[in-house]
This record gives sequence, structure tokens and C-alpha cells, in this order.
Amino acid sequence: MTNAARKPYIAGNWKMNLDRARSLDLIKTIKGRLGDGGDREVAFFAPAIYLADVAAVAQGSPLGIGGQNIWYDSDGAFTGELAPRMLREVGADRVLIGHSERRQVFGEPNEWMGRKVRASLDTDLLPIYCIGETLDERKANRTDRVLKKQLEAGFEQVKTVDAHRLTIAYEPVWAIGTGETATTEQVEAAHRTIRKWMAQRVGEEATGTVRILYGGSVKPTNAKEIMAIDDVDGLLVGGASLQADTFLPIIEYDR
Ligand code: 13P
Repeated sequence: MTNAARKPYIAGNWKMNLDRARSLDLIKTIKGRLGDGGDREVAFFAPAIYLADVAAVAQGSPLGIGGQNIWYDSDGAFTGELAPRMLREVGADRVLIGHSERRQVFGEPNEWMGRKVRASLDTDLLPIYCIGETLDERKANRTDRVLKKQLEAGFEQVKTVDAHRLTIAYEPVWAIGTGETATTEQVEAAHRTIRKWMAQRVGEEATGTVRILYGGSVKPTNAKEIMAIDDVDGLLVGGASLQADTFLPIIEYDR
């Protein structure tokens, strides 16, 4: 399956930003501009506390709503955590797993990723599994090795039949929130490594259905250029997803 057969996926990760009123305003504005969602998939990953309200406003539109993290058990003594079923219950249909801020700031180990991906698939919460190297890793020429290790962890319990429900986001840590974007060559090489690894793991056919997004300082000014890179099927946008006037031109990168 080629790039063209995979529907472009533009996702906004709000992280710990906005407030309730501004979140709902943004959802209303984007919803009003989306159309039927036939030619692209658009989603927001909102703070968990706002998910129910945000999902209620998005209802009836093709806008996807997701959480930014989950724990992999369905209940139990896990103070401060949220089970996948809880996100589903309030209207979320997707979730980010292994975002670099979870890994770097909150110390989430690679070992949790397989169970988190499995738990999300089992709950019908579509996962975006995030991977990416740090600046030190890139400088030490370890990018490929790091990406493969993260892929191995995330795919631990993924079967070939699950693959089409999975999305990968390549987010080089050094490009997140820094204004520094990876070069075309760097993005292309990383996405090629990811797709090749997946082909060996779940086969060519299933791999052709998996979208690979790029994330890291995506803006209205570079969205079109990044989307034109071979094997880039979408964008995971942080800062520029917080306002309609910066996120809309990214969604509409080709208009
Ligand atoms: P920025 O777009 O703010 O660099 O964030 C990228 C990101 O981490 C999205 O998940």
C-alpha cells in the first residue's frame, strides 16, 4: 500500500495547556471547518479532565478525541492513573502512548509500552505509539537502534491483524517545542527505518496500512513541506494545535 492509500492524519496534542472554556471553543471552531472528514482524519489529544466535555462537543462530527496517556490495567490500586475503559466511557476513541514527555519527564520505561499498546487495542482506543531519539542519541549515531528498540517494546503484543488500528508517531525529542524541525532527509530516513522494521515484524501488507506521523515543531509554514516527504502520513502537532489560526492551516496544508 502506498502513501496515497493511507488517509492523512493530522493530530493536535494539547499537552497540559488551555483551560476548559478555550478547549471547548477550539473544538467548536475546528468542528465547524472540518467537512465530512472523508479526505483526512483530524483529532485532538486533550487533558483527561476535559475529555468528557470536549468529546460531547465533538460528537456528531468526524473529529477524533483522545487521551494523552493510560495505564494498562482495567482497575486496581493505581493512584492517579486512568484505565483505557475510563477514557472510552467519557467519549475518547484514541490515545497517545509513550509520548517522549512521558518517557523523559516522568520516567516511563520502554517495558510498559507493549502492555499499554495492547490494552488500548483491547479497549478499542486507537493508539498513536510515539517514538523518537534524543539529541545525544542522534549525535552518537544511535537513532536507528533507539527507534527499533522502542518499536520492539511497543509491538511486543501486536498481531498482524491489529496493525491497521495502530499509528506510529516519529517525534525526535530534540525537535519538540524547540522550533527546530528535523530535515527532510532525517525524517525520510527515520520513517523508512520504521516502515522496514514493521514489514519484518507484521509483514508488508499489514505495514502498508499503518500511518506514520511526524511530530516536532510543526507549523503552518512547514506542514506542506513535511507532508510531501515520502512515507509521512500525517502530523502530530503540539504548540501550533492550541489555536485555530495556527492549526487550521496545518489541517488544510494542501489548500
Ligand atoms: P511541538 O509541536 O510543540 O514541537 O510538540 C510536538 C509534540 O510533542 C506533539 O506530540
